[in-house]
Amino acid sequence: MRVLVIHGPNLNLLGEREPEIYGTQTLADVNSSLSALARELGVELQCVQHNSEGAIIDELHAARNAYDGVVINPGAYSHYSYAIADAVSAIRIPVVEAHLSNISAREKFRRTSVIAAACTGSIAGFGAQSYELALRAVVQIARR
Ligand code: DQA
Repeated sequence: MRVLVIHGPNLNLLGEREPEIYGTQTLADVNSSLSALARELGVELQCVQHNSEGAIIDELHAARNAYDGVVINPGAYSHYSYAIADAVSAIRIPVVEAHLSNISAREKFRRTSVIAAACTGSIAGFGAQSYELALRAVVQIARR
């Protein structure tokens, strides 16, 4: 079982970026906790981060033949990228959306994810733990 985690734009700055919203853990911290969980679950994990929309789409296309599931935090693209939504719809493997913050409780423009409907499900508002919950969910679904 192989799972890909895609971190979207600005998530490379985790830890220093608005820590009151996104927490103080760095991306490396998040990835290392996820790797530990993946080992526990007996899953092979790969984590990538891209700031550009095209790179995220390319990553999703490549994942369709190489992974059993994807966890994605599309960052601000969540709110307007129909291209990423289409890429998620185009691939057959389960994709779970994760957000650190509770996007439903934030500014109006963040309350809608145009990608959510294309995903198997979404988890938001649990800080770095959102990724762990999303990983558990995608593994369970992929094992079905
Ligand atoms: C985010 C929420 C988005 O609105 C924001 O643009 C991000 C991070 C989150 O994980 O809470 O970059 O996806």
